[in-house]
Amino acid sequence: MPAVKTIGVLTSGGDAPGMNAAIRAVVRKAIVNGVSVKGIKKGYQGLLNEEIIDMDTRSVSDIIQRGGTILGTARCSEFRTEEGQQKGADICKKHGIDGIVVIGGDGSYRGAQALARHGINTVGIPGTIDLDIACTDYTIGFDTAINTAMDAIDKVRDTSSSHERCSIIEVMGRNAGYIALWCGVANGAEDILIPEKYDYNEQSIINNIIANRRRGKTHHLIVNAEGIGHSTSMARRIEAATGIETRATILGYMQRGGNPTCTDRYYASIMGAYAADILCEGKSNRVVGFKNGAFVDFDIEEALQMQKNISEYEFEVSRALSMSGMTK
Ligand code: ADP
Ligand code: F6P
Repeated sequence: MPAVKTIGVLTSGGDAPGMNAAIRAVVRKAIVNGVSVKGIKKGYQGLLNEEIIDMDTRSVSDIIQRGGTILGTARCSEFRTEEGQQKGADICKKHGIDGIVVIGGDGSYRGAQALARHGINTVGIPGTIDLDIACTDYTIGFDTAINTAMDAIDKVRDTSSSHERCSIIEVMGRNAGYIALWCGVANGAEDILIPEKYDYNEQSIINNIIANRRRGKTHHLIVNAEGIGHSTSMARRIEAATGIETRATILGYMQRGGNPTCTDRYYASIMGAYAADILCEGKSNRVVGFKNGAFVDFDIEEALQMQKNISEYEFEVSRALSMSGMTK
């Protein structure tokens, strides 16, 4: 007998490609396990507004390939309050929901933790393009986002080379530089600026650009993370200092949309099924992760206390491969 009768599923925080694949897996694995599923629309806001729908295997047909989230997502300040959390738990009980799968980031896990405190079994799944969740080596949406950004940067590179320009391309990542680092390496950028490492020494970038131009390079690509930002004003200053035409391109929300890659669909499917399984086993206050080659789960508090750092070695390699500032 499963430990829960009806589970709810919601998506919360920023959307990410692959969230639909995760919803589909939660719904189908729960049904296979003999458990009913309800979809909660628009994250915790939808829970407080009782936007709750019945879900069956058909309601998740034809969504595995779609970006965004069919349930919608939201940010909800009321859910940060004790009253909001109590109300959310009461609404779950009213609808017979005794377990919830929350697909989102660290903030969403805090909400899941609060529901668990109020007697609703909860499991989180890492859904964010930023890769910045410490308890897991993989977050749903990252692979699609980096491939979208990489393709866009390749295109900017073509025109940049043709016009012998310098280009600053800003990618998402308010607090984390993973998208910038991965794309910077994959696109062969001359400079990669990430919040975890940038020393704000613009003069050294300017020196690199001048040195590279002397070596005959026709373009200079700078991949800049959103957490550093200010790409347009940076471009103006670089152009003034180097005399080389410099343009800024901010990729923005295109990185968060689009059909998920195979990798995102796969991780989302396994993580979604895993979350449904552990809820059915009676586990609560857990978060699913992929760590050291295996799908695992952690206590939410333990997961939130973990730290994730950009690898020193990978960052050093990114610097070495760009050959920036070399004279030969
Ligand atoms: P993410 O889940 O991507 O990190 P947010 O940090 O915006 O995104 O969190 C998403 C939602 O989770 C918030 O709008 C809020 O409803 C809920 N949430 C965030 N922090 C807390 C908290 N400390 N307690 C309860 N709910 C929270
Ligand atoms: O999904 C992650 C992320 O893209 C961050 O990199 C970014 O800072 C944030 O979401 C912005 O989200 P929004 O504009 O929806 O608040």
